[in-house]
Amino acid sequence: MNRGMHELVDADRGVVSRRIFIEPEIYQQELKQIFARCWLFLCHDSQIPLPGDFFTTYMGEDPVLVIRDNDGQVHAFLNVCRHRGNRLCRADSGNAASFTCAYHGWTYRNDGRLTGVPYLREAYHNELDRERWGLIPVALLGNYKGLWFATFDSEAPPLHEYLGEMAWYLDNFVDRREGRIEILGMHRWVIPCNWKFPAENFGGDAYHVPWSHLSAVTTSFSTGATAKRNATGTMVSPGNGHVVICIGPEMSGEPPADKLLDYDWATRPEVNTRLGPRSALVNPIVATVFPNFSLLRATSRTFRVWHPRGPDKTEVWSWVFMDKAAPPEIKKAIRLAGARGFGPSGTFEQDDMDNWQECTRTGRGVISRQMLLNTQMGLGHDRFDPALGAWASEYRYSESNHRHFYCRWSEMMSGAPWNEVVDHSASENDHV
Ligand code: FES
Ligand SMILES: [Fe+2]
Repeated sequence: MNRGMHELVDADRGVVSRRIFIEPEIYQQELKQIFARCWLFLCHDSQIPLPGDFFTTYMGEDPVLVIRDNDGQVHAFLNVCRHRGNRLCRADSGNAASFTCAYHGWTYRNDGRLTGVPYLREAYHNELDRERWGLIPVALLGNYKGLWFATFDSEAPPLHEYLGEMAWYLDNFVDRREGRIEILGMHRWVIPCNWKFPAENFGGDAYHVPWSHLSAVTTSFSTGATAKRNATGTMVSPGNGHVVICIGPEMSGEPPADKLLDYDWATRPEVNTRLGPRSALVNPIVATVFPNFSLLRATSRTFRVWHPRGPDKTEVWSWVFMDKAAPPEIKKAIRLAGARGFGPSGTFEQDDMDNWQECTRTGRGVISRQMLLNTQMGLGHDRFDPALGAWASEYRYSESNHRHFYCRWSEMMSGAPWNEVVDHSASENDHV
């Protein structure tokens, strides 16, 4: 394995430099080497169901317009006018046959073609080749079970290879029941923290739950199962920097609301049949798809994108998701649990945000910035588990997922070509 930026991340020793959470030059490199190369989550199918539906988002700091054109084909373009670079579409979402720039009125059809240029004859003597000045598309666009992803890198592996073994773990969130999921939301807010703190937390930090969230745990606000110190579980790294926290298959991650617990147990036979035999081994409840798309199915059902907004700022876009086949009272209970636990006013989210913020802020000091951070928990105690298709730690209090996440981070940051870094399947040669 290419060890990447060794001076900043040493996965073998389990140390990470604090500089990667605060320095503007490193942040700029992240935008280039990670956000302009990796597959990034855009939106869910149900947000753009009809011809003409669109949704505006970001890939890194690049604004992106996702559109289903009049023929029903989905595209993703830079949301930037080709004339003087104005932001083309200012709405969050909607339905439109065309988009007209606010500055000089260039107009693009919902398939990206430039169709209208004011005063074309007078201003351009009819010499402007409109075919060459359509919206700029992403390099590759892909869909996995309703989730749209894109990359700006034409050399990137296809989405199914990029996800690899992670696909099965994603199924545990988005393909549990017939009809898959529907989504609600979103909540959007800014946290003054580096984007990697929430990404690593969702993908590998079970250690903080009984302590950071002590008040919620003590008041039984949380589910007993995931917060108990003696809870069983497995940390899983299915390759390519993706990371998952699993509880035992005999446990539920639902909040202590009878309705939701009953629903979980009642649907398990259907869910396990869909997911197959691996569901007898682990119950994945929280995950990060490298680099910045996280999903949670404990206490709340939410997925979110950690949009980077500078080294010390993250804009969170968060949705509640639920099985489409769930009855209305369950959907309501999931919605309420989602708002109670996560989102800007969620009990759990507030605990987390406070810590991520201070982990970032203290890095402003030139002396404290020189510290190394410790990701040594469980070092040497993980193993490759063929049944899980992943590196796994027996016990969920382990930072093996942090090490895999940061190892991939450093490989991408070193600019290594894809054929050197992609795991076609996580393998024993890939140990960190
Ligand atoms: S910048 Fe868009 S029309 Fe001029
Ligand atoms: Fe948390």
